[in-house]
Amino acid sequence: MSELKRIGILINGGDAPGLNAVIRAIIKTARVHGVESYGFIEGFKGLVENNYMLLEGNPVASGIIQKGGAIIKSSLNTNVFNYKVVNEDGTVEYKDLSDVCVQNLKDDGIDCLFMLGGDSTQKAARDLSLKGIKVIGVPKTIDNDVACTDVTFGFNTAVSVATDALDRLHTTAETHNRIMTLEVMGRYAGWIALESAIAGGADVALLPEIPYDLDKVVETINDRKKRGKNFSVIVVSEGAYPKGGSFCIKDKREGGAGVINVQLGGAGESVAKALEEITGMTARNTTLGYMQRGGTPTATDRVLCTKYGAKAMELALEGKFNVLTVLKDGKLNSIPLEEVVGNNKEIGAVEGGTEESNMRTIKMDDDLIKTARDIGICLGD
Ligand code: F6P
Repeated sequence: MSELKRIGILINGGDAPGLNAVIRAIIKTARVHGVESYGFIEGFKGLVENNYMLLEGNPVASGIIQKGGAIIKSSLNTNVFNYKVVNEDGTVEYKDLSDVCVQNLKDDGIDCLFMLGGDSTQKAARDLSLKGIKVIGVPKTIDNDVACTDVTFGFNTAVSVATDALDRLHTTAETHNRIMTLEVMGRYAGWIALESAIAGGADVALLPEIPYDLDKVVETINDRKKRGKNFSVIVVSEGAYPKGGSFCIKDKREGGAGVINVQLGGAGESVAKALEEITGMTARNTTLGYMQRGGTPTATDRVLCTKYGAKAMELALEGKFNVLTVLKDGKLNSIPLEEVVGNNKEIGAVEGGTEESNMRTIKMDDDLIKTARDIGICLGD
């Protein structure tokens, strides 16, 4: 029997298919070792307000491997080191409530906190570990941009959704001799765009990692025309931008320091519009949006989530804390959170998903880039 008695699970950031599958794997592995599992409701909000539920034996936590969303919900744009508090008179203040979280975890007798999230969540996990909390991270995000792991859960499902969209856009593009752009998520990393472009047979993939030259895209469209293909399908990552240009920003919010305050959007539309003007062909954009985050996880994601959840619990049982559960070269492993945050060392400081944070973007020597080029996918350069 392990020394662990109670563990807590917390989710922060945008949802990703497979959250429930991870929770399930943690609960099941914990049960075998006589450890009780609890879930904090709405992520950091639940931790600050000490709002949690027992997961072990709870009917809510049963039959959930295939369910989208998360039975314990998630916090968005929240940083306990700079927590947004709305006073009775409506004024807003940002307070460091990390000590409240630490005290709550102590009072609740939580021996280890599992933190499911992307780069900003793993940064917060590392920051809490410096305050004496035993944490274990699990890399969640459809964007696949968490450092030190080959893959995050939710990514495979997002790629499948985007691939399905591309299959559908292909037939309508061909029927009407149109250019179709599909804007996909991924923030500052082009993983969803590149993998779905390959899987969905796209002609062009525009990625944040390669500022694009529209003339190259036009060349590809014209080459296709010469070969009798009077339509083209283009994947545009939401973070793609033209050479010498900048990101398309849809909205900005005031969430205070340490959270993501920029919402990307509009890259697909702007590419479609420009191509219509230059080529004279009709171009239409589809923005896939939150379809990529919701719903049932693929079988691949369910298996990955189960591996991650079980491994995370195993690490806790072995007393290996303050690490991220990762997949490296096909093998489950763990990496110290210090490595995962990279140079983003200051407690509670730099928000996740920004260029300053330690994101895993696509490197130009990645096999995927080579494969895309080999088969003639234009990457805008
Ligand atoms: O990080 C996941 C993600 O879905 C990104 O791909 C996207 O840019 C962002 O979240 C959207 O975030 P929000 O939920 O704030 O609209």
